[in-house]
Amino acid sequence: MQTRTLGPVTVSAIGLGGMPMSIEGRPDEAQSVRTIHAALDAGVTLIDTADAYHMNAGETGHNERLIAKALASYPGDASDVLVATKGGHLRPGDGSWTVDGSPVHLREAAEASLKALGVDAIGLYQFHRPDPKVPYAESIGAIKELLDAGKIRVAGISNASIEQIDLARSILGEGNLASVQNQFSPAFRSSEGELEHCAAAGIAFLPWSPLGGIGRAGQLGRRHAAFGEIATAHGVSPQQVTLAWMLAKAPVVIPIPGASRPESIIDSAQAPELTLTGEELAGLDA
Ligand SMILES: NC(=O)c1ccc[n+]([C@@H]2O[C@H](COP(=O)([O-])OP(=O)(O)OC[C@H]3O[C@@H](n4cnc5c(N)ncnc54)[C@H](OP(=O)(O)O)[C@@H]3O)[C@@H](O)[C@H]2O)c1
Repeated sequence: MQTRTLGPVTVSAIGLGGMPMSIEGRPDEAQSVRTIHAALDAGVTLIDTADAYHMNAGETGHNERLIAKALASYPGDASDVLVATKGGHLRPGDGSWTVDGSPVHLREAAEASLKALGVDAIGLYQFHRPDPKVPYAESIGAIKELLDAGKIRVAGISNASIEQIDLARSILGEGNLASVQNQFSPAFRSSEGELEHCAAAGIAFLPWSPLGGIGRAGQLGRRHAAFGEIATAHGVSPQQVTLAWMLAKAPVVIPIPGASRPESIIDSAQAPELTLTGEELAGLDA
């Protein structure tokens, strides 16, 4: 597995997104653990999660606990795995997603994530989504406090504009904004500006829902014919072509495809081995 840089940490070029294993439609725990173990077997050393990846009220941290359990039961060495979690989103249990970016909530959420993950310091802590009711600088100030207190090792943000990226950089201090996680896929390309901004600044860019999201990822080759055609030509899946196309955009790009089955992440983890020609990449960009 090729590696890339996320702040001071070296991680696999493809990460595993944990969300499908904890929200609506999630599999049983044994299948999720098999999926996480398959990712580790394939060389994945970045797992993305969030306290809000759960379904029902009262089970905040479901996905964090699942990942901690799978890492603990992995028969190999999982000591170099970076678990990236997030705070600032909530799920009341009625299917909706709400936000709370207040410093008081972020401090409490980080403490709960430390417990759920069973660690002394969170590997990468990402502010999940701007809260319109709270000035962005206040939310990021809380992340800076967590960093200074050693509760989190590395800081990141998610769903951020270029202005918010620059504000976070200035508040966190030189070199302390390690990653930006924004939606980016063949169907959703409007965050290309943030991707380029991160590339210029040497900040890791983690595309979320890179395959179009849960329930749509399987139809990628049909929905986006160019990806399907190149996949056929190379004898690989359209999902692999998509991830290879993203990886080729800049060395800071680290996609985090979700999975709830081992087969999905085993296939996705092979994307760094796929080299697309300049002509193919230009065709996919069009
Ligand atoms: N920051 C944010 O606001 C935010 C928002 C959404 C998601 N995320 C993060 O981003 C991650 C990825 O996004 P996502 O899970 O929403 O969507 P996604 O990665 O676009 O799609 C996930 C689905 O793709 C399928 N899949 C994965 N690899 C495949 C392959 N090689 N071939 C065929 N199907 C494949 C999986 O199917 P199976 O389930 O059958 O394995 C999975 O359900 C999430 O898990 C989460 O960690 C962050």
